[in-house]
Amino acid sequence: MKVQTKNKIKQERFQAFNIVVFGGDGDLSIRKILPAIFHRDLDGQLDIPYNIIAITRKEPDLHSFHNKLIPFLEESDHLKYSKEEIEKFLKKLIIIKAENPTVNDYSDLRQFLEKHPERQNIFYYSTPSSAFGPITQTLKACGLVKQSSKVVLEKPLGHSLESSIAINAEITQAFKEHQIYRIDHYLGKETVQNLMVLRFANNLFERAWNAENIESVQITVAESLGVEKRASYYDQSGALLDMVQNHLLQLLCLVAMEPPVALEADEVRNEKLKVLKALRPFNKKTVLKDSVKGQYTIGKSKSNKVNSYLEDIEKYESKTETFVAIKTYVDNWRWKGVPFLLRTGKRMVKRYSEIVINFKEVKHNIFPSKEKLNNNKLIIRLQPEERIELIQMTKIPGPGGYRYKPIALKLDYNDSFKERFPEAYERLIVDVIRGNQTLFMRQDELQAAWKWIESITTNWTAVNMPNVLYEAGSWGPGDNILEDGESWITKSWRE
Ligand code: BG6
Repeated sequence: MKVQTKNKIKQERFQAFNIVVFGGDGDLSIRKILPAIFHRDLDGQLDIPYNIIAITRKEPDLHSFHNKLIPFLEESDHLKYSKEEIEKFLKKLIIIKAENPTVNDYSDLRQFLEKHPERQNIFYYSTPSSAFGPITQTLKACGLVKQSSKVVLEKPLGHSLESSIAINAEITQAFKEHQIYRIDHYLGKETVQNLMVLRFANNLFERAWNAENIESVQITVAESLGVEKRASYYDQSGALLDMVQNHLLQLLCLVAMEPPVALEADEVRNEKLKVLKALRPFNKKTVLKDSVKGQYTIGKSKSNKVNSYLEDIEKYESKTETFVAIKTYVDNWRWKGVPFLLRTGKRMVKRYSEIVINFKEVKHNIFPSKEKLNNNKLIIRLQPEERIELIQMTKIPGPGGYRYKPIALKLDYNDSFKERFPEAYERLIVDVIRGNQTLFMRQDELQAAWKWIESITTNWTAVNMPNVLYEAGSWGPGDNILEDGESWITKSWRE
């Protein structure tokens, strides 16, 4: 258990707020959004007047809502929380029924918000994106969108370039770009943020961060779980849209972008946009060679049978991919010819996410044994534990000539920092409250990401790309995109 810091974090002025969560009784709200606000409050960061308004489509039943929420509040690694803290927090939570997005159904919400005209209103859309337009129009018709209002959009923001543009057009009828927060929770993860510090606060790495020194970059986000209770959403989306279009591309951007001139939101986002625009689009030939999609089939876990994807979604047939691996290139000066290998999937061996910067081998091997010298690797582990490792060749002690092996220099976050690490949602929600858009996607970034993703989806359709079946609990068919001499480092380094 982490030690709770005594100092209250209150570096910035926060304006009093109401956060209105549409889809307030949904899974994301209960498991992530509401507990995130609770934790920030416990840390003393929300020491200002605020309320949370959960919008539900059914008649509110406060008691059962609390019963659903409390276990997630209690699942806390804070030392200092008690029943009283939970009760205090629950008093700030108001549940309002609004079955449909109509002026009539929003009248209770309007009445509540009008009681606090001095507060900023944050509208958090945790609903399917088809509801974004109607909600926005109704908020506008009710006169609830003010200059100080903000809107938070949960993914997926559409299912194609065209639909994401259409969603944006609906939102911008009421909100300006500086009021829109498109959330990607990967950007709120501690290690992902540390990537910026690692790259731009250390001279050592930045100097070697280019095609001259780096052989390949690999990003793996492996999940051990299947589709759980989200079968109908997932079956329409698949791994490419669920994970690559947002999370993996954002990680790629942070690895590949040029140093921004400052940390301001638009400076960072301008650099990320350049990377997205430089991604090499796919064609029929390259999509066959440099991408693979897969679907999990029956597997085993500790001698129990694990369902196939079709069993999980209760269908006889589905073309949806639960795994994808892609080799791509960032066509600019810095990254010329360096492959970026991306891989993600459900029901893989374990929950395991990391970025590997695989450096080139030494220019000339002076050691007589001619035993292969492993390339240096910088491994940034995002989960389950947060750690950075630098793999370097080391002499094995003893007489009789040089023998060497790769050893990891480790920075383990847990050993170095005793504080509790806030969850990604905690940081992002606080950034919304204080109006910092750095960790949120701008519309032009989103469009550039969709454009590249569509070069994959359209060519998959054109070549009738099949799913390669992989056993649940395996590494998936990622090897299909490798060329001679290439390997997935995660696998080769650990096993
Ligand atoms: C979500 C996806 O955005 O990210 C899920 O919709 C996925 O399918 C999840 O499981 C992974 O997030 P994390 O933080 O657990 O890696």
